[in-house]
Amino acid sequence: MATASIAKRLKDPSLFRQQAFVNNEWVSAATSKTFEVNDPGNQEVIGCVPECNVNDVSKAISAADHAFQSWRNSPVETRYQVLNKWKSLMHEHAEDLAKIMTIENGKPLKEATGEVLYAASFLEWFSEEAKRIDGDIIPGGMPSHRHLVIKQPVGVVAIMTPWNFPTAMITRKVGAAIAAGCTTVVKPAAETPYSALALAELAKRAGVPPGVLNVVTSHENLRDVSSHLTTDPIVKKVSFTGSTRVGKQIMEQASSTLKRLSLELGGNAPLIVFEDADLDAAVKVAVACKFRNNGQTCVCANRLYVHDAIYDEFAQKFTQAVKHMRVGYGLGENIELGPLIHQGAMDKVSSFLRDAVDKGAKVQTGGAAYGSSGTAVDGTTNAAQFFQPTVLTEVTADMLVSSEEIFGPVAPLIRFKAEEEVLAWANGADVGLASYFFTRDLSRAWRVAEKLETGMIGVNTSVVGSASTPFGGIKQSGIGREGSKYGISEYLNIKYINMDIS
Ligand code: SIN
Repeated sequence: MATASIAKRLKDPSLFRQQAFVNNEWVSAATSKTFEVNDPGNQEVIGCVPECNVNDVSKAISAADHAFQSWRNSPVETRYQVLNKWKSLMHEHAEDLAKIMTIENGKPLKEATGEVLYAASFLEWFSEEAKRIDGDIIPGGMPSHRHLVIKQPVGVVAIMTPWNFPTAMITRKVGAAIAAGCTTVVKPAAETPYSALALAELAKRAGVPPGVLNVVTSHENLRDVSSHLTTDPIVKKVSFTGSTRVGKQIMEQASSTLKRLSLELGGNAPLIVFEDADLDAAVKVAVACKFRNNGQTCVCANRLYVHDAIYDEFAQKFTQAVKHMRVGYGLGENIELGPLIHQGAMDKVSSFLRDAVDKGAKVQTGGAAYGSSGTAVDGTTNAAQFFQPTVLTEVTADMLVSSEEIFGPVAPLIRFKAEEEVLAWANGADVGLASYFFTRDLSRAWRVAEKLETGMIGVNTSVVGSASTPFGGIKQSGIGREGSKYGISEYLNIKYINMDIS
């Protein structure tokens, strides 16, 4: 797909930006180097964006630092106004933003539109939170002393976002940072820079002042650029969403200047169906939870534990539902599952599947890449990155699908017999982001929710993300919370003032 043809598909072609965004200006890399971005649905080149290097990033950090000197003191009403306007512009341009996302990420248009609205809700939420950065007055022992607590923005924030949510992960972080009075340098994933650049264009139109939001793109220079963002002393905080492996590297790098950190990392979420669950409801929610974004989210159900008494019936109903999912190019009609993001993801899913089948798992539906068996259901001619939605039964603990994050459309169904047993399996992972379970027994609902070792729990539901609720994990799933009243505190320093007024 040629560059011009993408812009032609948009109502507002100027949302398709191919330069970095620094100090409210569209800029090329100082070296003029660029890298290509591909459409995962057909492997065609969408366009080229700047291959920014450390010098380019330094300029963005300087712009953010300069802007911080005034933005930190901006009236909360100003922050409210710009964030709210930005949200309204996202609503106005939702169709274009969703199209850009589908083309660069592959997720079906309906899902992309959902993400755009979800992303906008964070701007709205944090525009309001800007007004609620309250302090405290704390009573103390000395009659002449007054103990005050005020909250101040941490400073320049480096924000690194993943390809699986190219828009929402930016607004969830940037919305909170800007509302708190911080300024930002965003480095979007190399696979999905266009959503980030379109957001920057709308931010500029909304009146976000120069330097408050900067977006730098890089691919080959990624290692150097990330290491600069995580070590430059001007940057006071790093917020990252991605793998636990990279999260640990960032933590190590950021320790040289002891930056504040928010890390939203790997999930490997367990989903448990107890014998007393409403089976039809559980099947519906479990399919949605497993196959959202084609299995490529940190909170997707990864290991599905089903009680022995209902295992066969659940497996049969779940398989039927998965069999009918429509796979194809994301802009097509009624498509439910798009391509995987790149060949590496295809290889990983295939190898996990091979490992499971070799160890005795049974394929109930799917079980292969479309590339090897023809075309995806919409007749996509280049099906190289499409994988059949797959259900595996008779899955055991020694298989990779039971212990590692799959990040693809493979649902392993694992049989269990007792509550204590399944809790031990669920909590056996070293990560703890989200978990889900299905029961109609109220005491079990409380008991299991309190025992599961994850930051978020869905009981009879798979919805755990919204602007007003805290998103984040425990154990090796990360540090900090995003969204909710807790999200903004990640971008604020607490300052205590003891005033002797005698
Ligand atoms: C993620 O998977 O990292 C984000 C999912 C969400 O916000 O719901």
